[in-house]
Amino acid sequence: MKSHNVVIAGGGSTFTPGIVMMLLDNLHQFPIKKLKFFDNDEERQAVIAKACKILLRERAPDIEFSYTTDPKEAFTDIDFVMAHIRVGKYAMREMDEKIPLKHGVVGQETCGPGGLAYGLRSIGPILELIDFMEKYSPNAWMLNYSNPAAIVAEACRRFKPNTQIINICDMPVGIESHLKEILGFDSAKDFDAIYYGLNHFGWWKTIHDKAGNDLMPQLIDHVKEHGYLAPQILEGEDNQDLWCNQPSWVDTLRKVRDVQALDPTTLPNTYLKYYLFPDYVVEHANPDYTRANEVMDGREKTVFETAKKVVSIGTFEGSDFEADEHAVFIVDLARAIAFNTKERMLLIVPNNGAIANFDNDAMVEIPCLVGKNGPEPLSIGHIPTFQKGLMTQQVCVEKLIVDAWKEGAYQKAWQAMTLSKTVPSASVAKDILDDLIVANKEYWPVLN
Ligand code: NAD
Ligand code: G6P
Ligand code: MN
Repeated sequence: MKSHNVVIAGGGSTFTPGIVMMLLDNLHQFPIKKLKFFDNDEERQAVIAKACKILLRERAPDIEFSYTTDPKEAFTDIDFVMAHIRVGKYAMREMDEKIPLKHGVVGQETCGPGGLAYGLRSIGPILELIDFMEKYSPNAWMLNYSNPAAIVAEACRRFKPNTQIINICDMPVGIESHLKEILGFDSAKDFDAIYYGLNHFGWWKTIHDKAGNDLMPQLIDHVKEHGYLAPQILEGEDNQDLWCNQPSWVDTLRKVRDVQALDPTTLPNTYLKYYLFPDYVVEHANPDYTRANEVMDGREKTVFETAKKVVSIGTFEGSDFEADEHAVFIVDLARAIAFNTKERMLLIVPNNGAIANFDNDAMVEIPCLVGKNGPEPLSIGHIPTFQKGLMTQQVCVEKLIVDAWKEGAYQKAWQAMTLSKTVPSASVAKDILDDLIVANKEYWPVLN
């Protein structure tokens, strides 16, 4: 089997160690020759990279490992860029969450005004990563999961239509792992799902087992009562360190009961709660301690402490980074391209008629078959008026914010914030936007 060269962009990410562990677990199906890390924060990346260097030396000494902040060194002679950068890091995620909340509006990493703020920060640096890849390894593919993926994907469609980039999200994979538990299946690959929507904004339409039997009735019965809380979480047996057992995620998984009631024939993405129950979300938020704080005090602290410990004792023996099992979809995607597997995966791609009654030029999240020439979207057919209405509104929000970035247009940014279903009025939108402009001075284009 051919070995590939991979660069992880955002080498200093809290997810990098988990991705490396996952890559190590999957070398039998995706062999790696060279692994590089790239980041623009030398100090942050060095902590993670030095620990991973020790890990790789002990577990996979044949992989040539290096890390750098130099784009030429990072992007030369590579086959895949796995990109997960966070422009502005956690300090800015905290602003994205807290500024809208101060105005009584949902404060979230990718949804509502916070997601739009993050979008305005991310577009430029992601386009720059694409430029590096195309300059130094023109045949490479970028597998991007940097957020906000919906806005990043729209910017790629608009400004880099011929780039070999695929935007992906792990939320449907994460939810399907709960569905698998609810069904008592070994793997989510044992069922076929039709899912459609936008990123962090979609629905499962049908789920069948490999014999073609409809699994939706059983799933819907469970979800009506428990949301996506799988039996072992309900019984309290699960590992308390897992993401889905943290209080904010347990609340999100349970709230799916109410979200699902809006269309009892489908199963929703968890993120729809921010659009359909924003009042509930705001009521249950602590404006002084948001998810960014939870992550800084939790995952970020643990990952960096572990990395420092590994470096200080000089061995990975006795330490542990949790392999990010959901992240195996990244290997599935790389394999699909590298070995033309035609695996079916949920990806963010131009609609181009796949959803028959939706805009051709919208970036939608739908099942695709993936091979060496990229994704071939499956046809979804017509979607109901409720979903179409919500998606039309949200896709226009995403398009307007990309316009605002491109044109440096305050008006478009204000329209985007106003159109977001999470924002109650144009005056609240303006107040939030004005505060976000001050907070994002270093990162946003000037909006006139
Ligand atoms: P993090 O802040 O720990 O890591 C991000 C890294 O990116 C940092 O080390 C930072 O220095 C680096 N960075 C920022 N701007 C850069 C640039 N211009 N060039 C190179 N490096 C740059 O963040 P995290 O919590 O680990 O998350 C990383 C990203 O992955 C976020 O965008 C997050 O939203 C995303 N994510 C997406 C999914 C998905 O479903 N699509 C799932 C998980 C995480
Ligand atoms: C899910 C989403 C990602 C998002 C992440 C946030 O995985 O699909 O897009 O970045 O959750 O998780 P966190 O633990 O950082 O709040
Ligand atoms: Mn996501």
